[in-house]
Amino acid sequence: MSLQHFLADQLQDKQQLLDLIAQAIDIKTNPSKYAQALAGKSVVMLFEKPSLRTHISFDIGIEKLGGHSLYIGQQNGQLGERERVSDVAKNLACWADAIVARVFKQTVLDEMAEHAGIPVINALSDLYHPCQALADYMALTETFGSVENLNIAYIGDGNNVSNSLMLMGSILGANVTVITPQGYEPDTSLVAKAQDLASKSGAKLTVSTNIEDAKNQQVIYTDTWISMGDDTKVEQLLEKFMPYQINSELMATAGASAVMHCQPAHLEQEITTEVFDSEQSIAFLQAENRMWAQNSVLVSLFK
Ligand code: NVA
Repeated sequence: MSLQHFLADQLQDKQQLLDLIAQAIDIKTNPSKYAQALAGKSVVMLFEKPSLRTHISFDIGIEKLGGHSLYIGQQNGQLGERERVSDVAKNLACWADAIVARVFKQTVLDEMAEHAGIPVINALSDLYHPCQALADYMALTETFGSVENLNIAYIGDGNNVSNSLMLMGSILGANVTVITPQGYEPDTSLVAKAQDLASKSGAKLTVSTNIEDAKNQQVIYTDTWISMGDDTKVEQLLEKFMPYQINSELMATAGASAVMHCQPAHLEQEITTEVFDSEQSIAFLQAENRMWAQNSVLVSLFK
């Protein structure tokens, strides 16, 4: 299977996602088979926001595929400020073979993809984090055998990570429940999109503000209450968000056997240290799989 870009979860169909996951597992199992997959290719990584896992997993992952990566951090300010986004994209395409970008606005990524003429990968935007979702569904496939009909509850802030989890899960046939405090629900147009995708795959999508809906779940997922670029102080959120904290009581009520976090984790805020460090946590499997899942995307972009 080949891909043109990897910009948003809903731009791939179910078979493409299943193939990407299967290929990621194959790369993880047989890395030497793919050691030359990116030979002679250079990948530019443009990051408008901080990163630990995404930056390092792309960098080392590209090296494992025989390619070369180059990182540009936040020193040049936001994309589109110093020169047009389209000009940045066209310049990069003079030298590089693909662009990995972490941006404040999804529209910037879409504009880059429109003008670059080389593949563009979304390394997190305001709306989506598809590399994370792909690694997450890979981790769930490894843990549960399949994600079809798996009950996953995302609890916390409705954000880029929950959007991707909900959209990709709805395509793959997972039953995703998104539970947020009032005022922090996912974007209604993305919920409508996910509902449409879920009706096609036969999955059940639930969006709620009631923490009591965290029942009969196999997996609980959470993320930070304050995403990068948002200067809200956590003290302002505690009253609203504390009832949504992932702790051992909530895990027991939900009946879940696995807990997920994309990290960085804010211990004793969205998740207790006890649960994050417990046997149920697959957060480090998710982190490891970032590299294999992204490598699967890269291999497919250059097929
Ligand atoms: N929602 C978080 C994800 C971090 C990986 C953020 O955007 O900061």
